[in-house]
Amino acid sequence: MKTEDAKKLNRRTFLKIVAAAGASCGLSSAPFVSHAASDPERKLKIGVVGSGRIGGTLGGLWVKAGHEVMFSSRDLEHDKALAAGLGAAARAGTPRDAAAFGDVVLVAVPYSALPQLGKDLADLIKGKVVIDTSNPIVARDGDIATWARQKGAGLASAELLPGAHIVRAFNAVGAARLPTIAQSQGERIGMPIASDDANAVAMASRLIREVGFEPVLIGPLAMGKHLIPGTPLAGERTPEQIRKVVPTLS
Ligand SMILES: NC(=O)c1ccc[n+]([C@@H]2O[C@H](COP(=O)([O-])OP(=O)(O)OC[C@H]3O[C@@H](n4cnc5c(N)ncnc54)[C@H](OP(=O)(O)O)[C@@H]3O)[C@@H](O)[C@H]2O)c1
Repeated sequence: MKTEDAKKLNRRTFLKIVAAAGASCGLSSAPFVSHAASDPERKLKIGVVGSGRIGGTLGGLWVKAGHEVMFSSRDLEHDKALAAGLGAAARAGTPRDAAAFGDVVLVAVPYSALPQLGKDLADLIKGKVVIDTSNPIVARDGDIATWARQKGAGLASAELLPGAHIVRAFNAVGAARLPTIAQSQGERIGMPIASDDANAVAMASRLIREVGFEPVLIGPLAMGKHLIPGTPLAGERTPEQIRKVVPTLS
């Protein structure tokens, strides 16, 4: 497909997502999607794959927000200890257990783990909402990161986690800052997100708000290439600042 045609298609896809998810991501007053995410009373089950700095911290904050969270990694003992410190709403399991458990699955692993995880979890994450914090960092992840950066992190994750309804989020804000931001009473920091799926945007937006950020949908998953450290969207910005940056991106 020619680049201009691809851009138009991306734009059309994006407008459809905004129309469906607009009320949940602050972009328009379009009708709300009919989904569990639209019911703030319904507590969610969240599977965390990768319970390190980002996964462990976000999972803990979502437990505090009232959700049930299952933590997983390749170290079950670590995850059991993490869950034990968070109370009855937290538990531990394998990555397959967590992927099966979650209404939504948070994937927060080094990018080099995604190809194998995508295969191991394929039957479980197909059709599920997956929030993808994972960044391709060449110095850490090697060739897969080079490939992902060329393709764009959003489209690369979609290829590695086929069938999942991916939302890229939490990609360039420091894990250590999350607890402080979650408690902040001041103006909300914006969380730029990218996705092709309106329901996934609605569910992720709810979870993002519950940890103190204001979600800002910057576009379809193809725009996920801008959601990595070192881009103009990285770091902590107000929602308005994010919206001003987006039109300058290509
Ligand atoms: N730290 C940040 O501030 C930050 C901010 C934004 C985005 N990110 C991105 O988010 C991702 C996670 O970052 P992090 O800082 O949380 O890393 P981390 O602290 O090293 O945690 C990574 C987690 O993934 C697990 N893991 C690794 N390989 C795995 C596999 N094959 N299967 C299952 N679990 C696996 C690790 O546990 P085991 O090794 O024991 O399995 C660990 O629990 C990275 O891609 C990073 O670039 C990080």
